[in-house]
Amino acid sequence: MAAPRILSGIKPTGRPHLGNYFGMMQPAIAWQHKGEAFYFIADYHALTTVHDPAALRQHTRDAALDFLACGLDPAKAVLFRQSDVPEVTELAWLLTCLTPMPMLENCHAYKDHVAKGKIPSHGLFAYPVLMAADILLYNSNVVPVGKDQKQHVEVTRDLAEKTNRIFGEVFTIPEASIVPEMATVIGLDGQKMSKSHNNTIGLFEEEKALRKKVMGITTDSQPVEAPKDPATSSIVALYRLFASADDVATMEAQFRAGGIGYGDFKKRLFGAIWETFEPFRARRAALEADPTNVDTVLAEGAARARAVALPTIDRVRRAMGLR
Ligand code: TYM
Repeated sequence: MAAPRILSGIKPTGRPHLGNYFGMMQPAIAWQHKGEAFYFIADYHALTTVHDPAALRQHTRDAALDFLACGLDPAKAVLFRQSDVPEVTELAWLLTCLTPMPMLENCHAYKDHVAKGKIPSHGLFAYPVLMAADILLYNSNVVPVGKDQKQHVEVTRDLAEKTNRIFGEVFTIPEASIVPEMATVIGLDGQKMSKSHNNTIGLFEEEKALRKKVMGITTDSQPVEAPKDPATSSIVALYRLFASADDVATMEAQFRAGGIGYGDFKKRLFGAIWETFEPFRARRAALEADPTNVDTVLAEGAARARAVALPTIDRVRRAMGLR
């Protein structure tokens, strides 16, 4: 069987957080050894919320640096900026013409926005179609994502199947790849970690800021001596992402036994986070010391991405009667 084509993206709306890392970046980095991997910084998608050009440029660069620092190897995986292959917006239009409105009205990012009484932009409404274009333009088989993106991959599959039914075998049908234990990483307040909930822990926080955030994790008000429930604790849930099974079992037993306060457990969690990202911080500092490095990686990535995208868009144009 041919090596799978793997594709995923991250939106540069701020610095990546632990949810992005465990939900997508870490699995994507593992996939780079198993096939042809294409990873991109979704700057077109970020425009649905970021309207400050300097901030968008900075976040885009930071996301690329963070991904490289965490272990993305540009010799193995293609790293590129979404907007360096503008044909993706053309494909999004072609797919838009086949997209039933109710399918998008049913997508939860749009529904949540409306439920909050906010007026969605057309970009937010059509967001899943641009995402489908991302996935289909590169003939992807596997899309490593967190659970919140599952619905968007299903929309992609529906649109690809519909296109193939009407116009012949144009698209590869992709599949989401979700690591069950990392599907939804929770944030400081116990809800899903998300920039929009303001409950994130960034991958490259300063030591003091990180300590402050971890010490601020929401807990109940059980006194030190009381037994505590590890199953409902955000501290334990986050610790599971970093510690060995033995260390997690020790913390769970100590929760149940009582006699240790939440502050001590939080310190242990802080230590685990800080240590895990230590090598990444060192690598990031080295990458930042050579500012042309990331530009070169993104330029080479764009050329490799275009080499796949151009034949696909040509195939779709012809199939639909545009050539
Ligand atoms: P974005 O930037 O919101 O998130 C990037 C990835 O991080 C995952 N993620 C989480 N996983 C587990 N727990 C969490 N708390 C958590 N928060 C975020 C997301 O599921 C995602 O995989 N629409 C995408 C970007 C995109 C894309 C694509 C992805 C654009 N086109 C094509 C795949 C294929 C997004 O909003 O990413």
